[in-house]
Amino acid sequence: MPFTNRFDALPLYLLATIPQKKRDLIARGVDVIDLGAGDADLAAPRAAIAALKAAVDDPGMSRYGFGLGLPAFRDAVAAWMQKRFGHRFDPLKEIVPLIGSKEGIAHLCFAYLQKGDVAIIPDPGYLAYLGGTLLGEAEPYLYPITPRTNFLVDLDEIPEDVLRRTKLLFLNYPNNPTAAIAPVEYLQKVVRICKERGIILVYDNAYSEMTFDGYVAPSIFDIPGARDVAIEFHSLSKTYNMTGWRCGWACGNATVVGALAKVKSFLDTGQFMAVQKAGIAALESWESWVPGNVAVFKERRDAAVAAFRANGFPGVEVPKASMYLWVPLPSGVRSMEFHERCMQEEGVIVLAGAALGAGGEGFFRISFITSPARIAEAAVRCGRVLQRMQGG
Ligand SMILES: Cc1ncc(COP(=O)(O)O)c(C=O)c1O
Repeated sequence: MPFTNRFDALPLYLLATIPQKKRDLIARGVDVIDLGAGDADLAAPRAAIAALKAAVDDPGMSRYGFGLGLPAFRDAVAAWMQKRFGHRFDPLKEIVPLIGSKEGIAHLCFAYLQKGDVAIIPDPGYLAYLGGTLLGEAEPYLYPITPRTNFLVDLDEIPEDVLRRTKLLFLNYPNNPTAAIAPVEYLQKVVRICKERGIILVYDNAYSEMTFDGYVAPSIFDIPGARDVAIEFHSLSKTYNMTGWRCGWACGNATVVGALAKVKSFLDTGQFMAVQKAGIAALESWESWVPGNVAVFKERRDAAVAAFRANGFPGVEVPKASMYLWVPLPSGVRSMEFHERCMQEEGVIVLAGAALGAGGEGFFRISFITSPARIAEAAVRCGRVLQRMQGG
């Protein structure tokens, strides 16, 4: 049976293939250091774990959550957005709980994209933007984010005929994979252009709390006018080491949030409410728990920067945010080959830049998902691979 064109358009999702490859390596006795996915080896907050344990004993939690879910989760999200950014959202109309932010990002496309439409996507970028766009049968316009524009999408460089057809603009700062951050003036300009052009700004703020050295990431709603055009996605995954729990939310104006909620009502029947209970506990632990967790990531970041610089990757910059190091490769070293050789020859899993889009060629990404000592060991092994690839 032939597949649909939209299915055939989907590229390889490299990260999804890694768990099996890792299993094979471990079965061969390889000492694997996995720095691939943004999926830390750290525990979720104790309060979240305790809340989940208590909730699973409550039969009421085993029922369908439907789109509404636990109203108390919506309230906790609203309180968090208020405390963290100072913005008020109506818990019922301007917030939608998500089964991880990924599904919300991808599903939003079904409400706003169709054949003939364009979505502007940072390249490299989180693949849900591309997946949602292609499954929505729209045309992705991949904008290469490189050091030339400080990894920002410069809308002035996008052709007029593309802008005219653009319905969605995906932005993600702090950025995965480049770790770039967006200046407020840049976001102001983006909001202005989106308003002028009638473009919905899909602002993916999954790494808003993962920031270092005094940097505090903004919400897109800090920008005047953003409520007219933007929807912002948040996730418990990175902030609270809760990747597998699948818990996040989107917020914004009632029309856009309502459209996403409607799409979801045909595709899922809500999240496990016990996880929402745990989510409430996590959100409420923000002040007491998040700074300590970020400190752990900072220690890993510092170890990673030092170790990769010392092992043949001098171009590494110190990221102010995210849980990634975006490491430049010497020219001529292909990122996919580097990734493959690191894995097969040294048991180190890094993500090839090109796996997140052609614009990522010339780089690879590591995640701060293991101890400083193991990251340092991985850097030594990666350095050996680079030497061999350069004939050393
Ligand atoms: C940029 C970005 N957005 C969204 C997500 C999705 O997070 P989740 O679906 O776990 O909430 C990720 C996960 O890696 C990400 O890197």
